[in-house]
Amino acid sequence: MTLAVIGGSGLYDLASTAEHGHTFTNAKTLTVATPYGDVKVKQGKFAGRELNFLCRHGASHNVPPHRINYRANIYALKQLGVTHILASNAVGGIARFAAPLTLVLPDQLIDYSWGRQHTFFDEFNHTLSHIDFTQPFDQPIREAVLKAAKGEKLLVHDGGCYACVQGPRLETAAEIRRLKNDGCDLVGMTLMPEAGLAREQGLAYASLCLSVNWAAGLYEEQLCIEEIEKTMQAAVVKFKQLLPAFISALNL
Ligand code: HPA
Repeated sequence: MTLAVIGGSGLYDLASTAEHGHTFTNAKTLTVATPYGDVKVKQGKFAGRELNFLCRHGASHNVPPHRINYRANIYALKQLGVTHILASNAVGGIARFAAPLTLVLPDQLIDYSWGRQHTFFDEFNHTLSHIDFTQPFDQPIREAVLKAAKGEKLLVHDGGCYACVQGPRLETAAEIRRLKNDGCDLVGMTLMPEAGLAREQGLAYASLCLSVNWAAGLYEEQLCIEEIEKTMQAAVVKFKQLLPAFISALNL
């Protein structure tokens, strides 16, 4: 078993986890060549285990959600021998349980994104393959997150449906009303096609979502981007706190 963490918005390195007694030691940055383009992955030891760390938005956080090379990212991790992925995804909270600063472990998703390169099975040299995606997330990874949260006395809400929208703009109030009617609890821009591609490559994948604002039109007149940034930084601290306990709970 080999673990990768995919860092979303706000999670650009693991360096400051040092305050929790763990550092990303001997970390080196690899450039992994894939048929879809090159990907930078940091590889090192963290909490006593081999860990791969990939910044979803690129090393300098300049790739917007709809431009992320999701296929290259997942392919690169597969090439490195990764078997398990924990992703961090910033979201807006729709359900009452997903208030800003809450960590949520979704168990379902609905994909509203469009125009993204969303499959490895679109070339003639591949045999056509339909993956089962009834349960989009890996249960053992989810359980390790919950166990770690318990040990760290950190609240992680178990379950919820993630709506993946196209972005990069935030939603209208009516769009959020529609998502709520559809049964969505969280809204974000980056979970798909990432989760589906991981399943296509046979990788175990789960997402730990960081709620960084109430979704548009629910409780505020308008969304304040600076406020979202601040909440994101605080939520990322919680994610980092959870990580070492998660890694030992996963029993790699
Ligand atoms: N909507 C979509 N994506 C997001 C949001 C949101 O409100 N907050 C963080 N990512």
